[in-house]
Amino acid sequence: MSDPLKSMKTVSFHGDLVKHLAGDDGLHVLQLMPKKDGGIFIFDEDSIAALEAAVSEVENTTGIKGLVVIGTEKGFIAGADVQLIAAIDSRDDAVRMAKRGQSLFTRIEKLECTTVAAIHGPCLGGGLECALAMDIRIATRDKSTKIGLPEVQLGILPGFGGTQRLPRLIGLPKALDLMLRGSRLDGKRAWKRGVVDRVVPVAYLLERAAETALSGKRPSRKLGFADRVLTRTRIGRGFVAHKVGKTLNQGPARFMRAPAKILEASLRGLNKRDRDFDTEAQLLGELAVTDTCKNLIRLFFATEEARKLHKTLDPNAAPVESAIVVGGGTMGGGIASLMAQKGIDTRLVDLSPESLTDALKRHAKTLSKALSRRRLQKHEAQAASDRLSVSTELSGCRGRDLVLEAIVEDLEIKKKLFASAVEHLADDAVLATNTSSLPLAKLGADLPHPEQLVGLHFFNPPERMPLVEVIRAEVSSHEALARAARLASDLGKFPVLVKDCPGFLVNRCLAPYLAQGVEMLLEGASVERIDQAAEDFGMPMGPLRLLDEIGWDVAAKVCDVLQAGYPERMKSSPLFDAMAESGALGKKTGEGIYRHKGKDAKVSAHVASVVREKGLAIRGRPKVTPADIVDRLLSPLIAEAFLCLRENVVASESELDLAMIMGIGFPPHLGGPIAYAKARGLEPLLARMQELVERFGLPAGVVDAFRPTVTEAKQTKTAAEPEAPSEPVSEPGPADSGKTKTAGDEPKPKKAKQGKGNASDQSKGSGSGPQPEAQAAHGDDAARDEQRPEGPERGGDTSGAVGEPKR
Ligand code: NAI
Repeated sequence: MSDPLKSMKTVSFHGDLVKHLAGDDGLHVLQLMPKKDGGIFIFDEDSIAALEAAVSEVENTTGIKGLVVIGTEKGFIAGADVQLIAAIDSRDDAVRMAKRGQSLFTRIEKLECTTVAAIHGPCLGGGLECALAMDIRIATRDKSTKIGLPEVQLGILPGFGGTQRLPRLIGLPKALDLMLRGSRLDGKRAWKRGVVDRVVPVAYLLERAAETALSGKRPSRKLGFADRVLTRTRIGRGFVAHKVGKTLNQGPARFMRAPAKILEASLRGLNKRDRDFDTEAQLLGELAVTDTCKNLIRLFFATEEARKLHKTLDPNAAPVESAIVVGGGTMGGGIASLMAQKGIDTRLVDLSPESLTDALKRHAKTLSKALSRRRLQKHEAQAASDRLSVSTELSGCRGRDLVLEAIVEDLEIKKKLFASAVEHLADDAVLATNTSSLPLAKLGADLPHPEQLVGLHFFNPPERMPLVEVIRAEVSSHEALARAARLASDLGKFPVLVKDCPGFLVNRCLAPYLAQGVEMLLEGASVERIDQAAEDFGMPMGPLRLLDEIGWDVAAKVCDVLQAGYPERMKSSPLFDAMAESGALGKKTGEGIYRHKGKDAKVSAHVASVVREKGLAIRGRPKVTPADIVDRLLSPLIAEAFLCLRENVVASESELDLAMIMGIGFPPHLGGPIAYAKARGLEPLLARMQELVERFGLPAGVVDAFRPTVTEAKQTKTAAEPEAPSEPVSEPGPADSGKTKTAGDEPKPKKAKQGKGNASDQSKGSGSGPQPEAQAAHGDDAARDEQRPEGPERGGDTSGAVGEPKR
């Protein structure tokens, strides 16, 4: 791409960001250069000013036949600087910013010469809006090319003309689909949807763009009949508005304002003869100052930090290139398949040949689905298939970088497995466990190198759930933790570092929430009321529905562990065991609280009979209102979350919030339990908890756990008051990632190696392993996109821009 540019003359270089080049043939090129080496051009004060200056120069130059705008080999434009959006605290500032971008792109649109956007790598947000203002868009076929308007994921709308230009270009339905999902399309898909005019190999991008610009030929684009009617007629637009409006009032989308504003801006633009940029800017102004926007931006930064966790722990953390997964059941089979898909040479070991056969079948099914959805090409699917081998033996594993066990949840069996595994592995191989409840201190007690042991707690289903808790024991080494965290990132997950304690972080906070759901049921509140109240708060599903997903047997085990760990606050319910004994384990048996048939789930009468037979009803408590239901569910979760921060279970508020959003689907627009509690006010929340203890018998330990946080916050506030006005606790600072690293609880450095100890043979696992535990949003990517139009896209790579560069 760079060679043809070398033969051109440099006219000027604006702010070291926009290079203006000219050829002898009348071709001019604006090359967008990133500020940082290896980065991608993003829109901020400096780069907008540089592009404005370059455009002025082009406007004032005669004899330009064609203009190409191009980025570097890293990418085109990754979007607007998210820090800039985060810092906006007045509606007027946002409107001004939008108008400045709009006016710049309109000037590009009005240039007399033919303009071509030569797109390679990310072309997102403001990047695509810039490209949309040009006459022609040519994109590369490369995998790194990603084209889209993901603003909705930050709670805003495309405010540089995107809502005005895209619907006219590709039709209202397709444009809304792209903007409301915030999807990122590769070159070919963007071409199929009409967003770009041509797709070419990377090596020919500049050449083809130059030819096209000089030829002066603008492609004739015609919308199909249906798109024409749905875009250009009032009746058609009314139909689309009605249909889309309905979906925006359902599920988590109903808590977001941005999708409705995107719809409104698009419709208003189409109603006018020459678009309606002013409405777009005004609506951006409204959205940019909402709590939702600030919360989603904070979450965006938290995901960025999570992705870099391994670098923080050990900048030299090597990638895991080969791994062994032991246990090919629900978790191990899924994790092994994911590893193979992501390029890791993976051996799956299980005592049971049937488990291995099942795991291979699931792997094949996943790959064929990816093939049919064109997410993989044939040779890639074949390679991913070849990368997963299976065995009933651990032997032959020397040289592998990591072993991850996902076998039956039994301390002695897991210990024996590790004792046997270390016999076959190199000294520096990482030993990882997917245990959901066993203390790492005990698991590693007899290992020759316990510092090599870490937890890698995936959530169910591991292929889809975005969170991985990286569990550090007292003695875990930085190197082992960093490598494990890097593995999680490489698998497309968000790793969060968590201290070894009962329930770790997510299950520890979730369990008392679930227990309250069950308690209200036993008090006589209906299943529908309880679950509906939680959904109306914004959870992807209510606590009782979630228990059916988890499985009552697993929930019973986890609650027992937590009750033993935190007896003052956690009380398991007899209903867990009663349901487990009755065989109604939830979704996996077809019946639990609900009767599960296909996608439908109706409340079953079974639980009522279990409650009656076992005499479990709780009498004499007042009736709960929806507000009581929500507060009873959330109070113990929030109190536990703050306690986890105090105990350094997790290092920062933003990591905790991220874990709860990614792990259980805590409503992202509320920013996670910590952000939510702060917005609500810690003191009023404490008073409410006290009331719930008195009225409904919420464990008093919940209040005791929460009170020190409130007292401390009060003291800090008082101490800060004489010098400066206190910060409003209701809104976390826009760019504040809540990163308040705690000291003195860092993982221990790697110990000197000792010789290998005697290891006993691996023993046969017994009993059925635990089943699904904490899980939230399900469904495939498309379904999830629909469910959560504004959630950060899991698995996507992100940068400091409304987009996604790197990798
Ligand atoms: P599972 O019962 O589906 O699979 C366990 C597999 O391990 C079986 O295929 C079994 O044959 C095999 N196995 C047992 N002992 C073995 C041994 N000594 N050597 C080789 N293979 C052996 O269990 P699942 O649900 O996959 O759970 C595995 C681990 O993951 C457990 O520690 C569990 O606590 C944890 N976990 C489970 C989650 C869930 O939702 N199921 C979520 C997060 C963690």
